[in-house]
Amino acid sequence: MADRLGGSGEIGATWALIAAAGSGERLGIDRPKAFAALGERPLLAESLERLESCELVDAIVVACPPGWEEPSILLAEELAASKVVACVTGGATRAESVAAALAEVGDEALVVLVHDAARPLLDEAVVQRLLGPLGEGYEGAVPVLPVADTLKRVRDGAVVETVARDELVAAQTPQVFLADTLRRAFAGEFDGATDCASLVERAGGRVAVVEGDPKLLKVTTPADLALVESWL
Ligand code: CTP
Ligand code: MG
Repeated sequence: MADRLGGSGEIGATWALIAAAGSGERLGIDRPKAFAALGERPLLAESLERLESCELVDAIVVACPPGWEEPSILLAEELAASKVVACVTGGATRAESVAAALAEVGDEALVVLVHDAARPLLDEAVVQRLLGPLGEGYEGAVPVLPVADTLKRVRDGAVVETVARDELVAAQTPQVFLADTLRRAFAGEFDGATDCASLVERAGGRVAVVEGDPKLLKVTTPADLALVESWL
């Protein structure tokens, strides 16, 4: 199977879902975060263009903020993003938005990649690293970074314990999964999940880690947006 994964020419083998439906409350602007200005373009343009030009990706589905389906379609047209198959309305949570996008994925899909629009600086090398483990018996793979700070568990304003850091990492997106595995994970309860891997882990799936990328910083606050813009 490994030789069929990731841009081997198999039509429709690898689908990318972009979770872009969040409101961006912490960014605090007059529009959803996916349409915040990053340089001259909406934030969403960056990951959309990068996935469009990634040879490992065959098809793209965008989960859009409610009411922003039309601007999302127009953006895909402007970018000549011909891999975009659908722009669906997202849900109330990230997991619901991913579920809505996943419903559009064709039966022929072997691999599904899920990415946050909030992480615009997606590099093809990360996608390449992620696909490796799927050919080696893993059902999923996530990019991770080491945690630099000392971590403490806190309750009611006081430290309860200092958590051993050596086994902890910070998980980013994109995350990749065998299509059947992700579908099974989303067939059950998914609401509290903050990432897709946690659902696959819960269902007993094996998820590998690969080296993440500090430039895949998630834009949460205006300061994050300024930092990512300086890296463009
Ligand atoms: N997301 C989504 N649907 C939701 C909530 C989030 O598709 N209902 C997406 C966001 O668009 C983002 C990613 O999930 O790309 C990570 O979410 P986050 O950074 O929390 O974005 P927002 O929820 O938009 O921001 P905030 O929490 O500040 O409102
Ligand atoms: Mg959020």
